[in-house]
Amino acid sequence: MKQEARQRLIFALDVDEFAAAEAWVKKLHTNVGLFKVGKQLFTRCGPDVVRMVQAHGGDVFLDLKYHDIPNTVAKAAVEACKLGVKIFNVHALGGLEMMRKTVAEVDAYCSSAGVARPMLLAVTILTSSTAETLQEVGIDRSVEEMVVRLAKLAKAAGFDGVVASPKEAVLIRTACGDNFAIVTPGVRPTFAALDDQKRVTTPTEAIAAGATALVIGRPISAASNPLEASGKILAEIESALAT
Ligand code: C5P
Repeated sequence: MKQEARQRLIFALDVDEFAAAEAWVKKLHTNVGLFKVGKQLFTRCGPDVVRMVQAHGGDVFLDLKYHDIPNTVAKAAVEACKLGVKIFNVHALGGLEMMRKTVAEVDAYCSSAGVARPMLLAVTILTSSTAETLQEVGIDRSVEEMVVRLAKLAKAAGFDGVVASPKEAVLIRTACGDNFAIVTPGVRPTFAALDDQKRVTTPTEAIAAGATALVIGRPISAASNPLEASGKILAEIESALAT
């Protein structure tokens, strides 16, 4: 049960140096199954940081949010597969063809290479966007409508799930059914500060709303004892899964 919960806890490696990233992975890997490598750390350290996480027994969520012409995204996705990442993501706003081609090329590569296919996630609307942000780019629809629309599009393309706010999880679960991953940042255990996250839920609430995995950074990294904080979150995930 702990192993299942561990695979659902993703630590955001929001640091800019290889040594700092490695120190976090060494410290947390017994409680944390996946480490999220984003644009800053990957731009600084490159694929070596992915290999470092794997060498310490962790898996990687490569959070590069690809958004480009279908061929370019599909080729980048195949490179993510070659790196052996467990999860990577694209922007669903790139469209159905972009996502379909990505799924097709990833499937073809992974079956010919005999490697496990990563989980493909789509970002719907960034949680930093509001109705005003959408209007500025010519989208006269509500954020909620767009989130559901793009989640369904990702599902239709063969994607495994989405990254979403826990506040959107119920809507997405209802629209996309049970067999669809919902990975949620914006999670704050009761013992942690809100930081700059405005709309947060606890791990228990996020899982009850339909989240399948949680991305958590500062509630662990800013804790006086990060390993203990990650252990508390892991225990909370474990008991939420059991109910
Ligand atoms: O420290 P904290 O737990 O807020 O970190 C959450 C992580 O999830 C950060 O890496 C942040 O960039 C990312 N994220 C987010 N909200 C989103 C998408 C990603 O907080 N909507």
